[in-house]
Amino acid sequence: MAVVSAAFTPYEIARPFRTPSRIWFGVGASGRIAECVGEIGVPPGPALLVTDPVVERLGLARPVAQSLTAAGFALHRYSDIPGEPSVEVADSAVAAARALSPALVVGVGGGSVMDVAKLSAALVRNPGSVFEYTQFVKRRFDAPGVPTVLVPTTAGTGAEASQNAVVTKGSLKAFANNHPQLLAAAALLDPQLTYSLPAKVTAETGLDALSHCIEGMLSTNASALTDATSAQGIGLIVRALPRAYREGGDASARADMLLGAYLGGLSLNAGMVVGHSIAYTIANRLHCPHGFSCALALPYAMTYSRRPAAARLALVARAAGFAESDTIARVQGLCQDVGIPESLRALGLERERLPEMVDECLAQYPRPNNPRPLDAQGLRSLYTAMWEGRPAHLWQE
Ligand SMILES: [Fe+2]
Repeated sequence: MAVVSAAFTPYEIARPFRTPSRIWFGVGASGRIAECVGEIGVPPGPALLVTDPVVERLGLARPVAQSLTAAGFALHRYSDIPGEPSVEVADSAVAAARALSPALVVGVGGGSVMDVAKLSAALVRNPGSVFEYTQFVKRRFDAPGVPTVLVPTTAGTGAEASQNAVVTKGSLKAFANNHPQLLAAAALLDPQLTYSLPAKVTAETGLDALSHCIEGMLSTNASALTDATSAQGIGLIVRALPRAYREGGDASARADMLLGAYLGGLSLNAGMVVGHSIAYTIANRLHCPHGFSCALALPYAMTYSRRPAAARLALVARAAGFAESDTIARVQGLCQDVGIPESLRALGLERERLPEMVDECLAQYPRPNNPRPLDAQGLRSLYTAMWEGRPAHLWQE
């Protein structure tokens, strides 16, 4: 396992590292929620339980519901979240939360559910639409949110750890980022809830988590603390993902993935780099899952910054147990081994669309914290290599 010390990491500038205040990790964690909220100091009262139709069908929220009900909480369920939430979907959940005025909000589900739960809790006492708190308006939260407990049922997004939420506004992504009010009070990491994840979802969400760890390591806003979470997360995910993908019932692989995804969520404290920007431009056109587009972009984002970030890529290599010279090829190989295609061309994207994607990447998703500044020429070359399916480690501008 990689050893990270402050000598290798930026420490001259003080940076916050924000986390939930309580973490329960291990089999059965979700059924311990009553103990957890008691420790936080939330007295029994009305509680909003946010889920989605899949979570309801699989009964994944049952241990949470039983524990809270036994402790005297009155549960109100909200599960009307169809896939990636729009501003309108999130606003409907906020309206339900405001009508209830809950003592506690709990989200049991993937990133979409957890993001809606966080936004609902934060807007109970803050006015307006979710949209106003995104990059389009940049309204700040004045009042504190309702205590929130998040219980992930996928191992990927890291929403249970982060102070961010993402919704869609038309064809664009709307980000409510870097709001401490969006941090959960607690996260319950229960590997059992991920055993039934299909292989495809395991791969896509797992590679989102790997992207959070690697992009966090590359970010110029990395800190000694995000380096520690990134390094540990990379080591866990590169070893566990192929096993969890092949054998969903592999309990130790599922546990490692859930922990790796949580650590990746903490790495979001460093901010993501150009990989996530490219991923959004792909997903906006192909309407593919977030992690799928992140995995397509990740090895090329590493190559794009390989010169200024050589020392950071060496930390990635050490954490993964890869030879430094092989790191980018090994990361791309891992992605392709779990079903990520080799090219944008194979996905049916027209080559003529690449220039508009470069423009959108620069205009909508700039990354001042990328180790290499974003430039149109370099990005055009990158997108072309991705489209043709040239291996990322062989791509030369
Ligand atoms: Fe992500």
